[in-house]
Amino acid sequence: MGSGKVRRCLRYTKKFGDDFLHKPYLCGALAAASFLAGVSCRSTMKNIDEDHRDSHSYARPEEVRVRHVELDLEADFAQKVLRGTATLSLKRVVADAPLRLDTEGLSISRVETSQNGRDWADAKFELGPADKILGAALTVPLPAEATLARVHYGTGPKASALQWLEPAQTAGKKLPFLFTQSEAIHARSWIPLQDSPGVRITYSAHIKTPKELMAVMSAEQDPQGTRDGDYFFRLRQPVAPYLIALAIGDLAFQPMSERTGVWAEPSVVAKAAAEFNDTEKMMQAVESLYGPYQWERYDLLVLPPSFPYGGMENPKLTFATPTVLAGDKSLVALVAHELAHSWSGNLVTNATWRDFWLNEGFTVYLERRIQEKVFGQQRAEMEEVNEINELSEEMKRLAPADQILHIDLNGRDPDDGSTLVPYVKGSLFLRQLEQTFGRDRFDEFLRGYFTHFQFQSITTGDFVAYLHKNLLDASPELAAKIPLDEWLTKPGMPSGIALPHSEAFAKVAQLASGWIARSVKTAALPAKAWSTQEWVYFLREVAPKLDASKMRDLDDAFHLTTTANAEVTSPWLVLAVRYQYAAASTRLEEYLTTVGRMRLIEPLYRELAKTADGKKKALAIYAKAKPGYHPLTVGAVETLLKP
Ligand code: BES
Ligand code: ZN
Repeated sequence: MGSGKVRRCLRYTKKFGDDFLHKPYLCGALAAASFLAGVSCRSTMKNIDEDHRDSHSYARPEEVRVRHVELDLEADFAQKVLRGTATLSLKRVVADAPLRLDTEGLSISRVETSQNGRDWADAKFELGPADKILGAALTVPLPAEATLARVHYGTGPKASALQWLEPAQTAGKKLPFLFTQSEAIHARSWIPLQDSPGVRITYSAHIKTPKELMAVMSAEQDPQGTRDGDYFFRLRQPVAPYLIALAIGDLAFQPMSERTGVWAEPSVVAKAAAEFNDTEKMMQAVESLYGPYQWERYDLLVLPPSFPYGGMENPKLTFATPTVLAGDKSLVALVAHELAHSWSGNLVTNATWRDFWLNEGFTVYLERRIQEKVFGQQRAEMEEVNEINELSEEMKRLAPADQILHIDLNGRDPDDGSTLVPYVKGSLFLRQLEQTFGRDRFDEFLRGYFTHFQFQSITTGDFVAYLHKNLLDASPELAAKIPLDEWLTKPGMPSGIALPHSEAFAKVAQLASGWIARSVKTAALPAKAWSTQEWVYFLREVAPKLDASKMRDLDDAFHLTTTANAEVTSPWLVLAVRYQYAAASTRLEEYLTTVGRMRLIEPLYRELAKTADGKKKALAIYAKAKPGYHPLTVGAVETLLKP
């Protein structure tokens, strides 16, 4: 990839600024990155080749390819270790090549190989040096006829995919909990495998737990299974390894429709089922647009609040944060998003992490279409505008190289690429295609795309080739309106793209400026009727002109400090820190010591870290919060608070 060429262009570019923020009176075409005009960067498109090599894996699937993983693991809650075996079925491509696997922090006691699954022979194996990001390569020389390799191992104390929770960190407070988070490259910290999204595998598992706990996985459950500490699973569809997931705890199930349901701790499950009961409608909405759901069931698992993400699209079983249980379904775009991954991501998968926008950009676009079908255009528009505003804010903090969809992640942690750029810039690219070619044509294109590439892992280059062949090349005049090279290989936003407009927000914006100017009284704000999205928008509008006394007025009238809506709480508390609104201090500490979802708490630590006093406070709160945080959250917060 000609990254040198791309880099040379970056010198001339800037991050995009305030003018990209959504303003109702500025809707339509925006010259967001007009400063890019006149800078000549020769086309880099030819450099987006179809290279499937994954720089984040030691595996050499072109020599030996893992096809199936059979797990036999016991969860030891006392030692906080998963222990047992992984048996890998191999396709031998190059006769005498060894098997190369990814591992991180595993203690490996023994490796065996077999050609028939009955007779096993001990194999020599070698664990290479541990890289901070990639972990260590496990190399196993293979006898001529061997098609199976069995690794005996235990997970390490710092396994980045695992969070072991004490009973106190659960809703029930009586039993411990364990969950995994394998995306992007953390599967290797609990399973020795070829941890590359280009190596699709099926899997089966036998999981042993203390008998009072229930285990669930991103797979089919044994239909006869009862809660007895002995569980069997299998996933018949080939998936990327980052989609293997396990959770163990005091879990109850409540069905929502024939093929959807919710798992959660007993005290949470009814609330969760009520919040998510539009899931079946959402499934029908995507199916009507992009073809049948290919994974039989779609269930959700609501985790304890330390879960570091909003949601994770584990096949057949989305993992979700409890912070979306607002009581009014206002945050269920998350379900739309994770469900959409059943097409974009799980069915058609990014082949390497630099193609991550193929997963997330497509998914945000699909999420929008689901929200529009299920909740109407107004809601979908509001959600889109808020996300674009967030992208614009985040872009200001990102180096130009990190504003690129086809990002260069060589030598970096792929989680670093998980900004709003692949999500929101990616979806805006698809939105421009939709608007240029028309919805009907674009829908047909996407349907074809999901069918053509189903159960495959593809690169940005594969997508570009398909796009040319099936959309662009037939209509050169329309294609000329799409700055493809700019979308994929340049920082910032292409100039002149049409951004969405929200009528509802135009009203909120007017009220916000009236309220700041004191021509609109606090009591006259129709805010009791505002949706979550309108609140988020209002707070962003008034943010630059607030002070502690204005915050007091809002709080007295609308009780923002005590709102149950975690996505309003986060921006509210950011403002409380900024304007030293002391009445929210207790809530701030409570929020930071219970919620572990990175996207909600990072803005708070970031704001605190801006002043010496705030930073002291942040460190004190963090010291209390840390034992309850996931390893990924610990890493993210420590980056923000480091001296
Ligand atoms: N697949 C992601 C979560 C993820 C990304 C985990 C990268 C690890 C590395 C998931 O689908 C996601 O995007 N979650 C969002 C949800 C939101 C966009 C609705 C989140 O967690 O905030
Ligand atoms: Zn996603």
